[in-house]
Order: sequence, then structure tokens, then C-alpha cells
Amino acid sequence: HEADAYRTDLMTITRYVLNEQSKHPESRGDFTILLNHIVLGCKFVCSAVNKAGLAKLIGLAGETNIQGEEQKKLDVLSNEVFVKALVSSGRTCILVSEEDEEATFVEPSKRGKYCVVFDPLDGSSNIDCGVSIGTIFGIYMMKDSHEPTIDDVLQPGRNMLAAGYCMYGSSCTLVLSTGSGVNGFTLDPSLGEFILTHPNIKIPKKGKIYSVNEGNAKNWDGPTGKYVEKCKFPKDGSSPKSLRYIGSMVADVHRTLLYGGIFLYPADKKSPNGKLRVLYEVFPMSFLMEQAGGQAFTGKQRALDLVPKKIHERSPIFLGSYDDVEEIKALYAAEE
Ligand code: AHG
Ligand code: MN
Ligand code: MN
Ligand code: MN
Repeated sequence: HEADAYRTDLMTITRYVLNEQSKHPESRGDFTILLNHIVLGCKFVCSAVNKAGLAKLIGLAGETNIQGEEQKKLDVLSNEVFVKALVSSGRTCILVSEEDEEATFVEPSKRGKYCVVFDPLDGSSNIDCGVSIGTIFGIYMMKDSHEPTIDDVLQPGRNMLAAGYCMYGSSCTLVLSTGSGVNGFTLDPSLGEFILTHPNIKIPKKGKIYSVNEGNAKNWDGPTGKYVEKCKFPKDGSSPKSLRYIGSMVADVHRTLLYGGIFLYPADKKSPNGKLRVLYEVFPMSFLMEQAGGQAFTGKQRALDLVPKKIHERSPIFLGSYDDVEEIKALYAAEE
């Protein structure tokens, strides 16, 4: 009987957000409308990714982005879809995308009060081989009701109102936090709706998995090298951790969130700020980890306290289970 009730009482992401909104009587539903447009973008990219192999959507677009990366057709397509969906929502004033060198300032007639930073397609190197990829986003409120300026998106991650990602894998899963916990929704393609499947996600306090690109080991700094060594050859007689590295941040973070453990993209001699971008990779994933009871550290400070100076700024990142990140913090503190 209980199971039947669950099946007919569908908690869709729209209903979930409306419930959240009802906690803010002053809100006029703008956030709900914004989120619905982000969800629309995710549904579109999900269907494009699923057809990619067939619709000749794999392979290079023949251009390179500000990051100096060759853009894949899906990078470009998903970026266009999200920009158009966000502008048409009428609730945004500034957009920052990994794929656009400059921020997009929405024209006054379509302007709203939210700033959205996003990585339209994360894990591009995995597109052509069918390994899970995703979309990552974060939402700020503009600083105050003035003419929008770039400072509205150069805010510390702790100022984000919401953050989330959508993973396009064996199923399409959207993980979202609006500041009161983390919830996971799975797309039911027959309904075209995201249904609540992972309520109130909490990351295990400690994990048995570490996730890093060991190919960069030659260039790591001392504390990172020591930490990974400890994972492989524990001194306290505990068993070594397992290494799992997919190479799509969304997939590595999703596994870390559900199973526990630590994900690291450290600085190295070649890239002193690491590889991952602060606004639309580090901040949203750090926001989610803290909301799920984990933590996120840059090697110097709490990741969400970083104040970016440029929209494509990078930072080293260590995030995941609370106790695991504590260990790496202790190693960096000992180094000071
Ligand atoms: P993107 O495809 O959006 O440029 O991001 C790729 C990132 C991230 O998804 C992943 O964690 C990381 O690149 C993997 O980098 P390496 O291949 O250097 O390990
Ligand atoms: Mn890229
Ligand atoms: Mn990315
Ligand atoms: Mn990307």
C-alpha cells in the first residue's frame, strides 16, 4: 500500500522547488522559473547526448575555446541551448559559461536578478567513447539592483543560492541543493520529468576511495604526494584505498557523494592553480559537498571562501568525505 502511495505521489523537481519556494513567502516564483529553464536545458542535452553517436554529434566542432581546448560539437550545442534557455527565462542578468570567453550580459528587456555560472558539458574528453558526462551550474543573486557588472559574478562561492549538476550516464540524474541539503532526481523519459530518487543525500564521514589523475604524480607538491602515498601504503595497518578516476568531474563527484571518499585535482608544477575552474566547477561541487556534510579545500583555504578575480580562474581542489579532507588539510598545515 505504502509503495503504491509513493508511485502515485510523484515528487517532481518542479514540485520540490515549489515546496522550497513556499518557505520564502516573499518570493514571486522567479527562482522556480529559472530552475525550470535549467531543467529544460538538461533534458535537451540528455537527449542530444543519448543520440550523439547516431546524430553525428560526436567529434570536433573545429573551434577552440578560451581554455585552449578543441571544442566538441556537443560542447558548442549544449552551450547554445543553456544560454538560450537561461536568457529566455527572463530571470537572469549575467551568464558565465566555460565555453564563452566573455560573460553574457542579458539585454535589459529580458533581465532578471540571477547570475548563472555553468559548465554546459563537463568531461568532454569522454563524449566520443560513451563514458558519463554532465552539466554543472551555480546560481548567485546579483549584488544589488544596480546596472549588472562583472563583480556580480566574482562573488565567493559561499554566496551561491543554489548549485547542482546533471549527469548523463546510464540514467540522467540531476543533483541539486538550494541551501538546505542535497537532493537527487532521476529523469523518467516516459514522463519527461525529473523524479525525486535520492532524498537528503549525506556523504559518508569517511571513504575507502581516492580519485585523482595519477598521471600527474611527477609534478605534485609535497602534501599531495604524501597524501596519495598514504592512500596506497597506509602506515596504520588499515587497508589501502581503491583508486577510481573517470575523468569527468561530474561522474567522479557523483560517485564520491554517494559512496564517500575524496576527489582531488591538485596544483602541479605545470599548472600551479590546478585545472578545474572556480566559478562553474569548484564552487558548485564544493557547495554540494558542504551541504551533504562533506567539505572542500583548495590546499590553502575553504574552497567556498575563494574570491575569484577572473571568470575563468582555476584552483586546486580537494573535496569529499569530511574526515578524508581533514587529513589532507593537516598535511598542508604541517607544510606551512
Ligand atoms: P571539461 O570537459 O568541462 O573541460 O572538464 C574536464 C575536467 C573535469 O571534467 C575532469 O575532472 C578533468 O577535466 C579531468 O582532467 P584530466 O584529464 O587532466 O585528469
Ligand atoms: Mn572544457
Ligand atoms: Mn568541466
Ligand atoms: Mn565543459
